[in-house]
Amino acid sequence: MSSRRGLIAAYHDYLPVANTAAVVTLHEGGTPLIRLRHIPAMLGAPLEVYVKYEGLNPTGSFKDRGMTVAVTRAVEEDKRGVVCASTGNTSASAAAYAARAGIKAFVLIPDGKIARGKLAQAIIEGAVVIQIKGNFDQGMELVKEIAAQSNVALVNSVNPYRLQGQKTAALEIIEVLGDAPDRHYLPVGNAGNISAYWMGYCEAAGEDSFCVRQAQQALGGAYKTAARITASHRPVMVGCQAAGAAPIVCGRKIDNPETVATAIRIGNPQSWEMAEAARDESGGRIGACTDEEILKAQRLLAEREGIFCEPASAISIAGLLKDAAAGDLPRGGKVVCTLTGHGLKDPDTAMMQTRDALASVAPELAPISELIASHLT
Ligand code: F0G
Repeated sequence: MSSRRGLIAAYHDYLPVANTAAVVTLHEGGTPLIRLRHIPAMLGAPLEVYVKYEGLNPTGSFKDRGMTVAVTRAVEEDKRGVVCASTGNTSASAAAYAARAGIKAFVLIPDGKIARGKLAQAIIEGAVVIQIKGNFDQGMELVKEIAAQSNVALVNSVNPYRLQGQKTAALEIIEVLGDAPDRHYLPVGNAGNISAYWMGYCEAAGEDSFCVRQAQQALGGAYKTAARITASHRPVMVGCQAAGAAPIVCGRKIDNPETVATAIRIGNPQSWEMAEAARDESGGRIGACTDEEILKAQRLLAEREGIFCEPASAISIAGLLKDAAAGDLPRGGKVVCTLTGHGLKDPDTAMMQTRDALASVAPELAPISELIASHLT
């Protein structure tokens, strides 16, 4: 069951963790699946729409699911530290779990291109923050070499333990809904998360998949399936990339990816092949949304549902709205959108969206009452 005991305690039987006594946890997982009240009426299809609010994990993103397993493994292997390249959230999560484990985190981030909340987290959590004058993809190539040369564990999602932790989000959804949803929208950056969800859904439906085979190959005897959580079917997976950073959509690497959704500003996803397999095996697709569509979706979700997520997360709602506009939604059933990170991660982008400058008024009743009345008519 989903709970705040922490993922490894809740899903131990399905995860490659040998010694549960030495688990590194911040009580991640067990995030709410919230049914939307207002947005479904705008879709023109009678759907139940849910959001998996991953921003409520301990460091504010879904990365904590993978990090508890990867850092627990790093400690089992006597690693002195962890290293990652990051667009922000992985660095915040790695820093937190390394602090918890009493080891060092080294994080490579693209200079000036990560949201302020994420940088603040990595700094205060004691990570060695290395800003590179380059992008995430360049950082990724460097950390692979660094990890191969020193006694630090690579905790990007190329680490198979990460995806094992992340697959539990799909298991939680099945447990809450009583079955798999019909469609699942989520952002695609480095492409680990779509692969992890698909793995969870396949294990629960007892179906074979490329992602499961890859995990079995990488983990050998440590691999455990979640077959005891059962689903009657698997969802259609819809991955969403930002238009300026859409290598999978374009079918080629993007050298200089750009998007307001800095979390998914990635031109050469490491789990490209697995993401394509998830797309094809599920009969789904990976499409692109513009920055404008992303920001509009972010604002809509906040204004109409009271849920604040970061821009990269809002792309799952943008993808849903786009499909609604194209008349490409199922007539009935359940749709889940993953909101991967909390809106407070990136206050600057939210503030940029204020329509009018924030007005100040005199501390007097009359103008304030007038203002309130004007909004209630
Ligand atoms: N949403 C958010 C908020 C993210 O931070 C990321 C990835 C994604 C979606 C995409 O997930 O990479 O598994 O396809 N962030 C990484 C990072 C790259 O460094 O924090 P993915």
